[in-house]
Amino acid sequence: MTLKASAGAPFARILSVGSATPSRVIDNEFLLQYIDSSDEWITQRTGISERRWIGEGENIETLSMTAATSAIERSGVDPAQIDAIIVSTISHYHQTPALAPKLAHLLGLDDAAAYDISAACAGFSYGLAQAESMIRTGQAQYVLLIAGETISEITDLTDRGTAFLFGDGAGAVVVGPSETNGIGPVVWGSDGSQEGAIWQTKDWHAAVEAGEFPKLGMNGQAVFKWATGFIAKAAKQCLDEAGIAPEDLDVFIPHQANNRITDTLLRYLKLPEGVVVARTIKHLGNNSAATIPMAMDALLASGEAKSGQTALIIGFGAGLVYAGQVITLP
Ligand code: UT7
Repeated sequence: MTLKASAGAPFARILSVGSATPSRVIDNEFLLQYIDSSDEWITQRTGISERRWIGEGENIETLSMTAATSAIERSGVDPAQIDAIIVSTISHYHQTPALAPKLAHLLGLDDAAAYDISAACAGFSYGLAQAESMIRTGQAQYVLLIAGETISEITDLTDRGTAFLFGDGAGAVVVGPSETNGIGPVVWGSDGSQEGAIWQTKDWHAAVEAGEFPKLGMNGQAVFKWATGFIAKAAKQCLDEAGIAPEDLDVFIPHQANNRITDTLLRYLKLPEGVVVARTIKHLGNNSAATIPMAMDALLASGEAKSGQTALIIGFGAGLVYAGQVITLP
């Protein structure tokens, strides 16, 4: 018995991007009431001046909806043609059900395949790899990929290793069929031996026993070392696998974890002076999975980056996991 196999478009590309930033502006000064630190230390060691946290009436659903609605409108795609929705998040309030089916329902994407992925700060590139494969294999025609995070809710304000780092937000893209390739091969992987580098401070059993909501813990130095060594090589591999030389690149959007990590990646990749580099960390902090699409939208909105340009994106975080690819900007 020979089974039929689905067949899809020759290539896929990102058609549009949208994002949502929450309303509360949290400057470094605000955090000094909880941690022994200084505005100078935070700014110099990370590049962060302020971050946005959710306020009254805002949550992961409202942020994700705003980003997704904007991406769908900008794509011009009939929502009825979006047959899959992937949500990347580590801060959704429910272990089950996933956030994606609810967002699909709220967005009117009836009967779309809908599921969440948990790949932390690498989640956008993980989801993009899946969306690209789904379109090329005919498993979906159009895919909505949302990355939404409210890390402020799992941040331990008294932990001077993490309290200043994270911000909330959401980004979304519509991915669709294309005659030319707009999404290069994904370079991805994991190192579970470093599960303790970024972790949930208590598993659910321990949290219930202690009567405490679990928070996010991090061994900053271990992650920093991994990101400036291993991830630099992975970023170079993304260029190689896409057949791109550093001088062919227009835009670099690394995960916004620390400006010093970005600087090291830039030096390693030997990117030319003219390459536009995302530095949204200054005002948005680290938005986990949402960082890359939020930065992409910001660079396009400001005119620093332009539609059709070639960009390298790479994310890395809890797992440890990483993923990156070269893309054509929507
Ligand atoms: O998105 C997920 C991926 N996450 C990341 O990529 C994060 C990667 N890690 C980092 O970005 C950095 O490790 C941090 C920004 C988290 C920390 O910076 P660091 O340069 O690694 O600081 P450190 O832990 O090595 O500490 C250096 C010094 C120490 O003082 P001494 O021993 O040199 O006198 C710390 O006590 O800075 C001190 N310190 C602080 N001082 C003021 C540590 N935290 C703070 C603080 N404020 N919040």
